[in-house]
Amino acid sequence: MNRRKNTAAIFAERARVVGQQAFDAGQYVLKLHAPRCAAAAAPGQFIHLRCAADLPLRRPYSILSADAAGGEVEMLYKVVGEGSRRLAACRAGDELDSLGPIGNAFAPSPERPNLLLVGGGVGIPPILFLAARAREDAAANYTPLVLMGSEIPFPFDVTDSSLPFAGVANGTRATMAALERRGIAARLASGRGFAGCYRGHVGGLARQWLDAAPPEQLAATAMFACGPAPMLQDIARIAAQFSLPCQVALEETMACGVGGCAGCSVAVRDDNGGIAMKRVCVDGPVFNARAVFG
Ligand SMILES: Cc1cc2nc3c(=O)[nH]c(=O)nc-3n(C[C@H](O)[C@H](O)[C@H](O)COP(=O)(O)OP(=O)(O)OC[C@H]3O[C@@H](n4cnc5c(N)ncnc54)[C@H](O)[C@@H]3O)c2cc1C
Ligand code: FES
Repeated sequence: MNRRKNTAAIFAERARVVGQQAFDAGQYVLKLHAPRCAAAAAPGQFIHLRCAADLPLRRPYSILSADAAGGEVEMLYKVVGEGSRRLAACRAGDELDSLGPIGNAFAPSPERPNLLLVGGGVGIPPILFLAARAREDAAANYTPLVLMGSEIPFPFDVTDSSLPFAGVANGTRATMAALERRGIAARLASGRGFAGCYRGHVGGLARQWLDAAPPEQLAATAMFACGPAPMLQDIARIAAQFSLPCQVALEETMACGVGGCAGCSVAVRDDNGGIAMKRVCVDGPVFNARAVFG
């Protein structure tokens, strides 16, 4: 399974804020009118936003959804510092300098149609985008299974699921309402003891499903993950243990975001076992898990 190569154009646009929805714990879903980005965006890619005219450095945000027909993209972000704080102050009609979409994208393969998708914290958006696009791809017949972990309240409506999730205990029934409506099976994890959530790390939930899966199902499964580095390391370890291909989207601190400064470089193992430095912004952010975590 190869990652989708990053050969596409990056568009500079004045993106118009369509609206923002606020959730608990300083989390927001931002909708922008950025038609060129929306038309080209694929799951795993990000948009680089100047959050305010007087902030010189842009901030990278994964694309949560892209509506080519309406020319709109959505991002889900958490306020952690000056840039995101200024972003949260934006109102409908404001305009932001944007560059996007940037980076490569997750590349599922029809040969492994069971997509075990794992998102943690602010790594959830590209996982939801991938689930939506996989469901829309009728030709490939994908079955996305979504697992999400958070240590703060989830930034979406949560409901009980009636869609089965093999191997997962009955008490683990919480899901994202929007996924349930679309018939995409999902479960939530948190160490915080939220009602209906698996208590612990999201990797524990993935392991439950994998432990219960028969060999023929495992042979048709690939993993995709985005989230904090320790979570990705755990998912990479689990994927290796079950001999599954696994793609991870990294979130490294960035400056230029377009390949010019090398500030986002990470060490990646090539197919011959050698180490090469790769820029997360343009060579990634999606990498094969084994290449990053060994
Ligand atoms: C490819 C990519 C996709 C991302 N997608 C999302 C997303 O969908 N939603 C979201 O909320 N965040 C996402 N991030 C992280 C987001 O870019 C940072 O939270 C943001 O740049 C912080 O800016 P700030 O000015 O608010 O905070 P700063 O004042 O710059 O930093 C505040 C804190 O955030 C940490 N931080 C800063 N930049 C990053 C970074 N790039 N990655 C991780 N931590 C950082 C700092 O170490 C510091 O602790 C993504 C990062 C990358 C590289
Ligand atoms: S942030 Fe400058 S090369 Fe990636």
